[in-house]
Amino acid sequence: RPPLKIALLGCGVVGTEVVRLLDEQAADLAARVGAPLELVGIAVRRKDKRREGVPPELLTTDATGLVTRPDVDIVIEVIGGIEPARGLLLDAMKSGKSVVTANKALLAEDGATLFGAAREHGVDIYYEASVAGAIPLLRPLRESLVGDHVHRVMGIVNGTTNYILDKMDTSGSGFSEALEQAQALGYAEADPTADVEGFDAAAKAAILAQLAFHTRVTAADVHREGIADVTSADIASARAMGCVVKLLAICQRVPSDDGRNGRGVSVRVHPVMIPRTHPLANVREAYNAVFVEAQSAGSLMFYGAGAGGAPTASAVLGDLVAVARNRVHGTRGPAESTYADLPVLPMADT
Ligand code: HSE
Repeated sequence: RPPLKIALLGCGVVGTEVVRLLDEQAADLAARVGAPLELVGIAVRRKDKRREGVPPELLTTDATGLVTRPDVDIVIEVIGGIEPARGLLLDAMKSGKSVVTANKALLAEDGATLFGAAREHGVDIYYEASVAGAIPLLRPLRESLVGDHVHRVMGIVNGTTNYILDKMDTSGSGFSEALEQAQALGYAEADPTADVEGFDAAAKAAILAQLAFHTRVTAADVHREGIADVTSADIASARAMGCVVKLLAICQRVPSDDGRNGRGVSVRVHPVMIPRTHPLANVREAYNAVFVEAQSAGSLMFYGAGAGGAPTASAVLGDLVAVARNRVHGTRGPAESTYADLPVLPMADT
């Protein structure tokens, strides 16, 4: 079978790792997909930046030209942010390409437009890498648990802030020093305020709530408070009480008086004091952990590397293989891909 042609948008920490793995794992990926995967172009803002292991001849600054190239089958977007990512993904889908994106900010702001475009143009959109790095979490919510009634999704979904809080607690690091380490390790967003102020976790919470509760939730609906005001003294007092401070995302249905379908959903992100005996208290460094509570499944816990180039690239490649297989077999992935048909549940206070 002829190769499937892949275009990559963005070549930062995650993109570079995707390029490396596509080369290193080429034979295995081809066997799993049933066709070779050929990277044909990488759109970047600047071509002169040094990128280890990235073939310079693949670099282009013409992202629109790349996503609309007739021979491209699949577009991977790891640029982040709203524009130009949204326009490029819409152009790609309009041109019949399936897309894989790690862009939580965009999915949380305007997922409905992207999902609508995927449906309209009969292509796939996969986005496992947008929440909790390597942890398979969206696919379980989107597929395995879609027949259940999820009450609550709660956990640590931002690696950078967890790293900072952990270092402040265990090694007495100052806030800025811990943030610099998180940046050097490739966990932080390009603008780390997104991590520190809770915007990144709020975007992820919106995506989780949409999938869990089958309703439209945007980042603006999420009550958000970051860790900028958490001081070393706060962490020391928590320790004196046998607790740790964690930034949690909490998405839940708000039950009605009869306890069933509920008055709406509540989605929030804020620092919480947790007893050291709680499983979330032992989530260290940039790891993430998420509990899902569902009516029939009961309580489930998802745990693993939540940030960083390799873990996030693992999720991107998983999506890429799924989308590529669908191309080979002429099929499509899970069709939650629109919230247009679903009721918009009111946002409720808890
Ligand atoms: N900046 C994000 C984090 C990257 O620290 O969790 C993964 O989405």
